[in-house]
Amino acid sequence: MTLQFSLASAAPETVDSPCVVVGVYENGLLTSAAARIDGAAGGVIKRQVESGDINGKAGSVTVLFAPEGVSAKRVLVVGLGAQKSFDAARFQKVNIEAARALGKLPLDNAASWLTELDVPGHDAAWRVRTAALAADYAAYRYTATVKPRDQGKPALTTLAFAAADDAHAGLDQARGIAEGVRFARELANLPPNICTPAYIAEQAQAFADAHDKVSCRVLDHVEMEKLGFGSLLAVGRGSANKPKLIALEYRGGAEGDKPYAFVGKGITFDTGGISLKPGPGMDEMKFDMGGAAGVLGGFVSAVKMGLPLNLVCVVPSAENMPDGDSYRPGDVLTSLSGQTIEVLNTDAEGRLILCDALTWTAQTFQPVSIIDAATLTGACVIALGKHASGLMSKYDDLAAELLAAGETTLDRAWRLPLWDDYQVQLESGFADMANIGGKSAGAITAGCFLSRFTDGQRWAHLDIAGTAWDEGRKGGSTGRPVALLVQLESGFADMANIGGKSA
Ligand code: BES
Ligand code: MN
Ligand code: ZN
Repeated sequence: MTLQFSLASAAPETVDSPCVVVGVYENGLLTSAAARIDGAAGGVIKRQVESGDINGKAGSVTVLFAPEGVSAKRVLVVGLGAQKSFDAARFQKVNIEAARALGKLPLDNAASWLTELDVPGHDAAWRVRTAALAADYAAYRYTATVKPRDQGKPALTTLAFAAADDAHAGLDQARGIAEGVRFARELANLPPNICTPAYIAEQAQAFADAHDKVSCRVLDHVEMEKLGFGSLLAVGRGSANKPKLIALEYRGGAEGDKPYAFVGKGITFDTGGISLKPGPGMDEMKFDMGGAAGVLGGFVSAVKMGLPLNLVCVVPSAENMPDGDSYRPGDVLTSLSGQTIEVLNTDAEGRLILCDALTWTAQTFQPVSIIDAATLTGACVIALGKHASGLMSKYDDLAAELLAAGETTLDRAWRLPLWDDYQVQLESGFADMANIGGKSAGAITAGCFLSRFTDGQRWAHLDIAGTAWDEGRKGGSTGRPVALLVQLESGFADMANIGGKSA
């Protein structure tokens, strides 16, 4: 369940709530809501600013309990950092920290005035949406296989944001996006002994069964064998968990309108196969279906928001395991496209399942455009770290839309070139191409490999290897790039509405 959101119209000092949230900038500058509370409560905030107890550092939090003169039971004062550099990213950060602090308090609802902060370049609907998503992000707990640590304490379920009525659209969007983000995070966080290709297929089928206008088709390995998915099937051959190709269709647009397509890498566990990965950190390769989770989340959001567009979401899913029946370095595979591939490293498996899925998606749906998302290369993590997804496309306008969507949602991408100059790195003496491109530009040569299967398609590739999850014991799925994809869909839907899509 996502958090419940509403708009608050009362004044911060008179709102009847277990907790009211206000901000203070560095150097003790109070926001107008903080000043109102301060005034009503006889200077309680200013005194703490003067004493240094409240320093306004970005993301710092202080709880004032039952200040006299204020209706709320508590006031949560959140540090905003320097006012002159306050921007969208900081706005998101302080809202996340506020929600984290609320999550630790024994209360189930609160009212935040942080949405009144001025964020250059963004309106009230954006602020409300971003604050709501930040709060829901902080409120999510993974509990599928572990008991919550803070059992027995009331959990935050409801949050109100100060904003005028015209910000309502922002809340509606946040509700839809939050559903998709949660769907993606939960699926990606599940362990690989639960989240198998068959499990993802079941989840997709269940979602289709529960929603009008959504249908689901699953191809199993027998059907794929008949159709010629030689590349995808090779990757899954070493695993007892057989590969699936999952396709969800949403008909929210006009009948006959071509769909937009998403494709997501669904490797439910990547050992590397015969080209086995080193042991340390290998558990994180359960997140190698992050692309699948991301596109499914984007799909879920589109359906929940009822966006007026046709959308398909295709997930090739397999487990990459070493086994007596595994594919091996040196094997030559015949892909669904008919092109042959020399396997030089069985750990470059993502592109091998994606290539067949891309071919099938183009053939089956003739989509307007195809966006794929994949935890594809360690090289992308080296290049961009955890802050930006790698974006590759030969279509400048599509790339620009993706970059802009990432910027708006703070789910950012950064473009890498996809020039044909890199294609020579994939040459092979034994097949049409090799599955790896050597030491340099690993993220780009992976993109170049995929480009060979998207001829004539308006296609873009997102390498989310660095962004899909946070590392470490307590890390977990981030739900990226759901927000980016939903923003993009909204743009598509707007175009559909003004009839620009069929042009
Ligand atoms: N799933 C990995 C990519 C990955 C690695 C994502 C680390 C996130 C963190 C992918 O299947 C892989 O193993 N790629 C290889 C490709 C190489 C063999 C050309 C890699 O990046 O090392
Ligand atoms: Mn791999
Ligand atoms: Zn992988």
